Amino acid sequence: MLAGADRPPTDVWAYDGKVPGPTLRLRQGEPVRITVMNQLEQGTTVHWHGIRLPIAMDGVPGISQAPIAPGQSFTYAFTPPDAGTFWYHPHANSLQQLGRGLLGALIVEESEPIAVDRDLTWVVSDWRLQPDGTVAPGFGNPMEAAMSGRIGNTVTLNGAAETEQVVRSGERIRLRLINASLARIMALRFEGHSPTVVAFDGQPCEPHSPEGGQLLLGPAMRIDVILDMLGEPGRRYVVTDDFYDGLSYALTDFAYSKEPAIARRTDASLPTLPPNPLPEPDLASAVRHELKLQGGMMSGMGGMSGINHATWAINGTSMMGDGHAGMPPLLTLKHMQSTVLSLVNETAWWHPMHLHGHSFKILRRNGVAVPFRQWGDTVLLAPKDTVDCAFVADNPGDWMLHCHVMDHQVSGLMTVLRVS
Ligand code: C2O
Ligand code: CU
Ligand code: CU
Repeated sequence: MLAGADRPPTDVWAYDGKVPGPTLRLRQGEPVRITVMNQLEQGTTVHWHGIRLPIAMDGVPGISQAPIAPGQSFTYAFTPPDAGTFWYHPHANSLQQLGRGLLGALIVEESEPIAVDRDLTWVVSDWRLQPDGTVAPGFGNPMEAAMSGRIGNTVTLNGAAETEQVVRSGERIRLRLINASLARIMALRFEGHSPTVVAFDGQPCEPHSPEGGQLLLGPAMRIDVILDMLGEPGRRYVVTDDFYDGLSYALTDFAYSKEPAIARRTDASLPTLPPNPLPEPDLASAVRHELKLQGGMMSGMGGMSGINHATWAINGTSMMGDGHAGMPPLLTLKHMQSTVLSLVNETAWWHPMHLHGHSFKILRRNGVAVPFRQWGDTVLLAPKDTVDCAFVADNPGDWMLHCHVMDHQVSGLMTVLRVS
């Protein structure tokens, strides 16, 4: 009953029978082994989105492993170097497997927990449901693939629609937001509350209030905020998503209990997250590459006329599907090379661009320096945006770089960067 208690149930594909799948809580710097048993009727992999791990554990079919066949299992073993908010999802037949419910949160805990009263995770996902409750067919519709992708009609928070979050006045919450949608971009606003952003994509930033009070989350992106619950006992405050003009909706409510406010913490200053061990790129010696994002409806490529039905391209080349063996890398980077990528969105559409195996520092957007020391593994480009990001190519392997709107990825907005 994804859509609400009075609606028919939905058959999903799920990890351990739950949507979202179990929240995996790992410890920074401690090895973990996770065995995946495939009980689907098709091959799958699991990708640990945002975790800097060896290529053999990255879960990209063809590039880092063969898909796990039905009835088979595979053990992923890695040591997460960074604390923060991550997530996991398949990288095989991604549109359907993610769109039918294979997704979950992956939290890497700091060795010293920060001082908050509660640590909450909201996995937000988007579904296209039919009136009988089933997931609508039609994944990979070429028209949608050339536009904003498969946006659904039902948004769930931790697997349920019409939720409320019971809170107590005076408490301080760390809230981890994960956008696990196929295509839906979100702009969240908290009525009556002032969130402080402390991390993007798991990586700590300088604490700050979001621009315009709104948290912009493209597919696959995460934001950690600290929220001081200073509302009145007994009242409700709505959390809205108003990204799409005229289509705003209430994601959830903060429902304050009637208990009197708890006294503010004595250590009332904002807790700061310890830094992660990210290699700092050396901008003076960095190599620079421009990656042009091309295609989509209203481009010369025309929705469906390109080679192999490619709709999108990066620098004129379209890689299709989920990744496969023998994809020639677009760029080869020397191990430990500092690299600046300029992502140039020549299209009329939004793209959350994601790089595997690394986190990058977001330097500039449209020539303007990006404040608050912002790192990430996914960066959202508005139509015609140019974003410069920098990283050290410290992780050998063939790494996917793709749009995380799944329809865009599988229809050409994907490439491979090789780190030798
Ligand atoms: Cu979230 Cu290629 O991945
Ligand atoms: Cu990834
Ligand atoms: Cu895209």
